[in-house]
Amino acid sequence: MSRSEGNARRRTVTLHMVSSLDGFIAKKDNSVSWLDGAGSVYEAGVSISEEEAAAFVKTIDCYVLGSRTYEHALELGWPYGDTPAVVVTGRKLLSTRKSVEFCSGDLKTLVEAKLAPRYRNIWLVGGAMLCQRFLKLGLVDEIQLTIAPVLLGEGLRLFGGSPTEERWDLKNVVAYKNGFVELSYSAPSLRRSHADST
Ligand SMILES: NC(=O)c1ccc[n+]([C@@H]2O[C@H](COP(=O)([O-])OP(=O)(O)OC[C@H]3O[C@@H](n4cnc5c(N)ncnc54)[C@H](OP(=O)(O)O)[C@@H]3O)[C@@H](O)[C@H]2O)c1
Repeated sequence: MSRSEGNARRRTVTLHMVSSLDGFIAKKDNSVSWLDGAGSVYEAGVSISEEEAAAFVKTIDCYVLGSRTYEHALELGWPYGDTPAVVVTGRKLLSTRKSVEFCSGDLKTLVEAKLAPRYRNIWLVGGAMLCQRFLKLGLVDEIQLTIAPVLLGEGLRLFGGSPTEERWDLKNVVAYKNGFVELSYSAPSLRRSHADST
């Protein structure tokens, strides 16, 4: 299926983040060496080749990111390739890439009216503020949380602002040779079945 034919089936918004063992997604100085996986070897873990990783990334139709994550991603060399990316901001930011568009306003309208008709596999990739707002509005269908084998002690918390208790269904666990663990969850089944029937 092409990227723009995505409306035949319901869209899925997957929140993807990498967290430290103690629940931080960024260091105070924004350095990212803690994400490189060096120094830990878990023999029973799996590893994926560059080809497998590239094939997986091709299944993503669109990235959604907050403006601070956007600015940091540009500094890091833009890891999202030419896949469409929607940056949520209230500011007038300079467009740096053809694949990037800027949006503001109501997030539910953004997902239902702007993204869902165009994309099926939508990845929300940060940061904390935007993810928390999506979660609060019930706009996240799946969470893929990767835990890095490191304690950071301080930094930016992904779930620091979670307002309510909500159980999620564990769908998969993958442990990697570099000590990272990927946890995949689906939204509570009650919410899912309601969304499917609307
Ligand atoms: N470990 C990981 O997996 C991971 C992933 C992504 C990011 N990060 C890190 O997280 C940090 C950034 O996260 P963050 O929480 O500070 O910021 P963020 O969520 O990336 O961006 C926040 C900005 O998004 C815009 N925004 C949010 N909700 C909006 C709404 N409803 N309408 C309009 N605009 C809205 C606002 O932009 P304006 O101020 O422009 O209006 C707001 O200031 C960075 O350090 C980054 O490296 C880590």
